[in-house]
Order: sequence, then structure tokens, then C-alpha cells
Amino acid sequence: MAVTGSDSVLELDQLTVAYFRAPVVRDLTLTVGRGEVVALLGANGAGKTTTLRAISGLLKPASGAVRLDGADLAGVSPTARTRLGLAHVPHDRGIFFGLTVAEHFRLDGLNSQAEMDAAFDHFPALRELRGRKAGLLSGGEQQMLAIARALSRKPKLLMLDEMSLGLAPVIVDRLLPAVRAAATGHGTGVLLVEQHVHLALKIADRGYILSHGELAASGSAGELSKDSALLAASYLGETGGSGLSSGRARRRGQICRSRPSQCGARSVRLRIFPLGLRGSASTMSTVLGHL
Ligand SMILES: Nc1ncnc2c1ncn2[C@@H]1O[C@H](COP(=O)(O)OP(=O)(O)OP(=O)(O)O)[C@@H](O)[C@H]1O
Ligand SMILES: [Mg+2]
Repeated sequence: MAVTGSDSVLELDQLTVAYFRAPVVRDLTLTVGRGEVVALLGANGAGKTTTLRAISGLLKPASGAVRLDGADLAGVSPTARTRLGLAHVPHDRGIFFGLTVAEHFRLDGLNSQAEMDAAFDHFPALRELRGRKAGLLSGGEQQMLAIARALSRKPKLLMLDEMSLGLAPVIVDRLLPAVRAAATGHGTGVLLVEQHVHLALKIADRGYILSHGELAASGSAGELSKDSALLAASYLGETGGSGLSSGRARRRGQICRSRPSQCGARSVRLRIFPLGLRGSASTMSTVLGHL
């Protein structure tokens, strides 16, 4: 593995990833620094999960490089990447319904009381649930378990794919501070794919917006959260490659702010499909409802 002198924990250098030779992520260049939370945003099908899977080694890039702590990961297996400090929580959470909370931690090699305590410290609510099977936990509790497992490995880079899937925003709001604390307290770099954009940008330092597999915009979380039209456009798949929001998207953002009833789940679904755009009504209403 070639090692560069970079200070970033993760570097994607012109990464292109394809399914059956059709590229769905193109020339993506992105960095995550130590202790930095970076949001990766974009419409359904923009290529966010594909990007995370390529970083984990589950997909082989067509071209470009993935570097962890300056080391090129080409040819490194997913298991070896985990040992090098990469943790990936997929949207299905990767937990075993038949095992208890404590059994998950033991499975991860946490045997001493001190190690167990440290794992429970990420989400103290899990401590009382230690003997409960994961299949009987609520969605939010399952997500706490998935994140606590990942953090207990003290990863250099934590990747979270749609941790809020199926969860109410109020639950997500309780989970995200633990992610921020891991970044600030332990220097973990975090790459966060999240449909609750306003919540993600509240704890993120920076963000990147993908559109149709290409980088459409990037900036500080503060800058991005101010550009509501750009964020709305990114979730409607309308953002071009220039990094600027389109006039149509800007108008849609204005419509949603002045006439929110037109942006309810039902009307969004009706508006999207005639335009040939992809995206669930729940995602759209989540995004637009907060702009
Ligand atoms: N296994 C696969 N085989 C072929 N095409 C795929 C496969 N997985 C995803 N794709 C396609 O690649 C593109 C990017 O998908 P990806 O899952 O990365 O998007 P995403 O940004 O994570 O979307 P979402 O927000 O819906 O999760 C989509 O057009 C999708 O249909
Ligand atoms: Mg996805």
C-alpha cells in the first residue's frame, strides 16, 4: 500500500464506480479530516450508497483512488479495511435479531467490563437493554446498537448510511450528538449519508451534494444549510454539475416556503413522476418540510 503524507483520514481521488460497466459515480473527489463530520447528500439514486460501498471495498472502483490515512486501499479486502480502522453502518444496520445487545458486543470482542462500559457510554439507554434480543428493540434502539458497535472499534473513519431510515426526526436528533461526540472527542472522521438534511447539517462541518453520480456542490455546513433552494434541488435530482442551483429548483424552493401545502407528500409524489424524477414522497416531504 502506497502511503501519502496527507492529513485527511479519507480521500477519494476522482473515484468512478460502475455497475455492469455503467458508471453511477463519476470522478468524485472528496475528503474527510480527522474529527470532521462530513455529510454526503443527494437525491435517491444519486450514488451515495455506491460511494460508501466502494470505500468499504464491497465494490471495486472502475478508476480513481480511495485512501485511508494516506494509504491507498486498492486491492485491500473489506475485512482488512475494517482492521485498518474503517467502520461502515449500512442502512439495514447489520445487526442479528436473535442475539442480545450484550452478545453483540461480545461478538465484537469486547470481553472486559471496562470495554463493555465504554461501549454502553455512547448510548447509556442501551445499558438497561443489555439482555434484550436485538429483534425486540425499537428502530431507534437498534440504530443505537449499530452505532455503538461501530464506535466501540474506535474507527478512524465511520460511515453511516441513512441511519434515520424508518425513524422519527426526534429520534435522529438524539442519535446524532453521539456521532458528533465521537468525532470531536476521539478524532473519528465521519461520512454521514442522511435524508434529514437539516439535522445532518446541524452536526456536520462540511457537506457534498451528489447529483446523478457527480459532485454538484460542496461547502461548509453553514453555507449549504443557508441555500435551501440548492438543497431542495439536490433532493429532486435537478441540481446540475456546476455547483449552482437551477432557476427551476429555486422557484420550487420559493413555492414550498410560501405555499407549504403544495409540498405535502401527496403533491410532491404527483409532481415528481411527471418530471421523470426518482424519490419517495417521504424523503421529499422530510427535506422540503424543513426548508
Ligand atoms: N446492484 C446494483 N446493480 C445495478 N445498479 C445499481 C445497483 N445498486 C444501485 N444501482 C444503481 O446505481 C445508482 C446509484 O444507486 P445508490 O444506491 O448508490 O443511490 P443512493 O444515492 O444511495 O440512493 P438512495 O437515496 O435511494 O439510497 C442508481 O441508479 C441505482 O439504481
Ligand atoms: Mg442509498
